[in-house]
Amino acid sequence: MRNLNEDNITEAVIARLADMPDNRLKGIFINLIQHLHAFARETGLTEEEWKKGIDFLTETGHRCTDIRHEFILLSDTLGLSQLVVAQNHQRSSNATEQTVFGPFYIPGAPVLPAHGADIANDAAGEPCFVSTTVKSTTGEPLAGVTIDVWQADAEGYYDVQDPDWSDENMSLRARFVTDESGTLTFRTVKPRHYPVPTDGTVGRMLEAMHRHPMRPAHIHFMAQKDGYDTLITHIFLDGDPYLDSDTVFGVRSTCIGQFSQHPAGTAPDGTGITVPFHTMTCELLLDPANGPNGARLASIG
Ligand SMILES: [Fe+2]
Repeated sequence: MRNLNEDNITEAVIARLADMPDNRLKGIFINLIQHLHAFARETGLTEEEWKKGIDFLTETGHRCTDIRHEFILLSDTLGLSQLVVAQNHQRSSNATEQTVFGPFYIPGAPVLPAHGADIANDAAGEPCFVSTTVKSTTGEPLAGVTIDVWQADAEGYYDVQDPDWSDENMSLRARFVTDESGTLTFRTVKPRHYPVPTDGTVGRMLEAMHRHPMRPAHIHFMAQKDGYDTLITHIFLDGDPYLDSDTVFGVRSTCIGQFSQHPAGTAPDGTGITVPFHTMTCELLLDPANGPNGARLASIG
């Protein structure tokens, strides 16, 4: 096939996929090619702009490491991550809503007891005592749920953003297993709103778009138990000024936590505390694996 032009090249490229045996993958490629070509046509993309786009993606890739996920951040800030999450997790009306995973999760967080741990590991900030109960959507407390927790510190930074960070010195990250009553309690510091990293390609993109890079304060939770749809969510700080303009579009009304401030005195764990502190309580309600989300995935099959 020769002498292709702007009117017939899309059809010619798609024709090359005729022998693909995987129909799902073939469909994804056909859609990708159609939309990519349509994008170039509809924008009247110039060669200079195409080159800038290639350079942008190349630099984005060069920015990525095991702990710096610039492509996830790009997906998050373009709303693609939350779109994919939303279309893959149609939940029961009372289930806790799914939100973006974000770029700061690190596997291998220390496994800590369900009650009494302090995950701050000397991170500065106002003490915050968290109590979480995990239930099914029918209200049954769920024991044995593995809960990953990760959050920024009081300055708005994750531990991995420290140049001296190593996986032997994690802070504000932990993995718990809920007790017989489906609960876990731990001590941490009150999180603060923070900017996503702006020293890479995503930062330049946000600046070009005249957008702020801020995320409202939150704690990330991931809850996993056999027979239930894994829940990846955040619990946000009520009243945060960025709740309605989260730069990664992740805020859900069902994910606002109850944070309360208390004077110095006795902490929820019964210990004396000489500084003011906060408490946060939340419930995480898990959908069964054969719930709305499971049924939908089966229908795609
Ligand atoms: Fe976060």
